[in-house]
Amino acid sequence: MPVTAEAPDTAREPADDPLAGGADVWLLAEEDVEEFAAATGGLELLTEEERARHDRLLFPAARTRFLGARLLSREVLSQYADVAPEEWRFDKGRFGRPSVHGADWGLDFNLTHTNGLIAAIVVRGRTAGVDAENTPARPEAVRFAPKVFTPLEQEVLRRDREDQRGHAFADSWVAKEAYTKATGMGMARGFDAFSVHRLRGGGLAVVDEEIPEPERPLWQIQVLQVWDRFALGIAIRASEDDAGPIPVRLRSAMAELLPGVSRSGVR
Ligand SMILES: CC(C)(COP(=O)(O)OP(=O)(O)OC[C@H]1O[C@@H](n2cnc3c(N)ncnc32)[C@H](O)[C@@H]1OP(=O)(O)O)[C@@H](O)C(=O)NCCC(=O)NCCS
Repeated sequence: MPVTAEAPDTAREPADDPLAGGADVWLLAEEDVEEFAAATGGLELLTEEERARHDRLLFPAARTRFLGARLLSREVLSQYADVAPEEWRFDKGRFGRPSVHGADWGLDFNLTHTNGLIAAIVVRGRTAGVDAENTPARPEAVRFAPKVFTPLEQEVLRRDREDQRGHAFADSWVAKEAYTKATGMGMARGFDAFSVHRLRGGGLAVVDEEIPEPERPLWQIQVLQVWDRFALGIAIRASEDDAGPIPVRLRSAMAELLPGVSRSGVR
């Protein structure tokens, strides 16, 4: 099945759009979720269905991350559209990928939460995926390489310096997962069916026969180190109007989104 990741409409793109020239990735530390929730309205911002999902989660940490992810995505999206955080509604794709209900604002977003970190990427007129993992990956995880990497990727990993392998595994993993999350397939796509390679001048490229030829130059993949212990994979399918890779800005939810802090968007 060809890989497609259609760019949303940009019908109501505001003048002076902060997303015109790049993508924003917003970070929220798990330990800050309680304060973020208290400042933004917490569970009140969620739909009944979201609250029910929250209440069904058994572990407090999972509940915290779930709440943090809901609040972060709502607050972040409201930076770029004249919509209040509690008003957003979401659809789900065939493989569970959430998207903004209604195409009015042309926004696309994606979420990830891992032990300690919640992150949301947002773009307009483009499509994006994000994945975070603790790095370095544990040796038990690295042993999964044959199941999730192509033979060439496995060889690259084997030839990496032993003390760097945990980081190399985490980097490749988050890059690959971010890509499959941008396409919407997630792990339904075999991770050994495509590869991510390091480029000579730095940077990464995805090699996937399923991407239609004309779309291949539109994909950009990168891995950022966040704080001292997370690898953050980002995949963006740029729009046909982009001249090349678009910049990615890392932003802090606590420093920039709490009430009283000036907003960067159109609100
Ligand atoms: C998406 C997926 C890769 C996430 O893996 P993960 O590393 O455990 O979790 P992450 O924290 O990085 O991402 C989870 C978030 O990704 C988003 N997400 C869920 N499914 C997604 C998909 N198919 N594509 C992109 N993003 C997806 C959600 O926002 C989710 O968070 P939420 O449940 O709190 O809303 C994995 O759950 C998956 O492959 N799902 C699809 C499996 C499938 O085939 N489902 C079919 C039945 S719906």
